[in-house]
Parts: sequence; C-alpha cells; structure tokens
Amino acid sequence: MTLYGVGLGPGDPDLISVRGREVLDGVDVVYSPGRLSRAVATEHVPESRIGDLDFPMTSDEERLREAWREAAAEIAPEARAGDAAFVTLGDPNVYSTFGHLRRTLDAFHPDVDVEIVPGISAMTAFATALDVEVEAGAGLALREAAGGRAPTGPDRMVLFKVTDAPETARGLDRAGYDVRFGRRLFMEAGETVVTEDADAVADRDYYTLAYAERRGLETSRATDEFAAEADATDADASGGVSGAPDAEVSDD
Ligand SMILES: C[S@@+](CC[C@H](N)C(=O)[O-])C[C@H]1O[C@@H](n2cnc3c(N)ncnc32)[C@H](O)[C@@H]1O
Repeated sequence: MTLYGVGLGPGDPDLISVRGREVLDGVDVVYSPGRLSRAVATEHVPESRIGDLDFPMTSDEERLREAWREAAAEIAPEARAGDAAFVTLGDPNVYSTFGHLRRTLDAFHPDVDVEIVPGISAMTAFATALDVEVEAGAGLALREAAGGRAPTGPDRMVLFKVTDAPETARGLDRAGYDVRFGRRLFMEAGETVVTEDADAVADRDYYTLAYAERRGLETSRATDEFAAEADATDADASGGVSGAPDAEVSDD
C-alpha cells in the first residue's frame, strides 16, 4: 500500500487538484504537519480520518530529527496496512516538510511506497494574485528572505519567508528592484493582502512572500503591438468616425 504526499494548494480548499481530492477520499488516514494544512484537509475529509502529528517549534536539528523519526514510525504501519496521505500546503516538493518525511521513511522504513500528488505552489499562485505575467523566455528565481534579507541576482525573483518586509524592501530598492508583497494569497484563513507598501505588511506573518523585478526591465512580446493598435482605434473613435472636428465632439 502507499503513502501519498498530497499538495493542498495555497489554502483555498477548492484549489486542490482533482487527483489530490480523490486520494484524500480514498485513504484511511490523512496526516497534516500544521494547523493550516489541517484546516484545509478537514474541508475534504472528516475529522475522524485526520491523524495529528506533533512537531516542536524549534530549530534544534536533533529534536526535529527525533520528531520526524516518531512521525515516520507512526505513519509507516498505516501505510503498510492500507493507504495513507500526508498533506502539505502548496506543493509537497517545494520548500516543504514532506521532504523530511520522505527521507526519514527511506532511511528507516524503506519498504513503504511513496507517491506524490503535486499541488499549486505559492511559487506559481503569486503570479495570478499579484497580476504578474512571467512571459515565455523570462527567468524567475525562488529565494528566501527571512530576517530582512534581500537576495539579489536574477531579474525576477519570488521570495519566500518574508519576515521583515520593510527591511527586505529597502535592500531590494538599493539593489535596483521594484518589489510587491503578497500575504495569505488564495487562503481562506486570515486576510489576503497584495501591496507595494512594505509597511502594510510590516507585522510578521509566516504566509508572506515578495516578488522583485529589476527596475526598468525591458520586455518585448509579439502581441504588445495590439495595445498600440487598440489605442489608435480608440483615438479614431473618440475623434469621430465621421471625421467630425474635436470641438464638435466635446460640444454639449
Ligand atoms: C515553507 S514554504 C512552503 C511552500 C509551499 N510548499 C508551496 O509550494 O507553496 C512557506 C513559505 O511559502 C510562502 N507561502 C506559502 N503559501 C503562501 C500563500 N498562500 N500566500 C503567501 N505566501 C505563501 C510564504 O513565503 C511562506 O513563508
């Protein structure tokens, strides 16, 4: 039998994939690593099928390893006897706790089969939420910006784990980037904020990201000229199709 790593998407319960939903319907138990993923999971499966795991809030690697060993020891028998799922927000393979679980299972329970169902990651959901078009040919990097860090390099960057938005914004501004922030994008829990004002997201919220783009970045797209054509058509229309002079058009 199998342990499925299921990506829940950014947080709105209806942004899970059809396959992810089918897997959650079919498994015996659904494990979640945190409160928010649990809240999304309970929109799809009854509480009675949710398995809670305990992870300490610590950066002590030995304690974390111990917690992962315990989690794997709990999950492995379930995944041998039947099917089980472990859910994560976003995609299980993008900056996710699922990687730790998979490595722990590989090390201590290598007979457990693991399958992954991808989810919509904040790495791509940001584009729609912040109205950014990543056009063909563009490069885009994913970085971390915890503690006010302002990584630089590529022309476009998505920054996860923004904990000090004003400091990150100052660093990026100095380095020649425009920056926008997105908080709790496509999430039911909490308020969604999309803003260029770093002070508006100055308080710390784990679900905050930034998009940075090098100032003055030139783009050239085959369809750009349609906008110029549309402008010209609008200008013709407002000038009067019959060729009436401007003074008459504006005369009421
Ligand atoms: C540990 S990473 C997990 C990423 C997740 N696996 C994914 O694929 O989206 C957590 C970081 O992702 C970003 N993030 C995840 N979901 C988000 C959301 N709905 N809105 C804004 N940022 C989000 C935040 O920067 C947060 O600190």
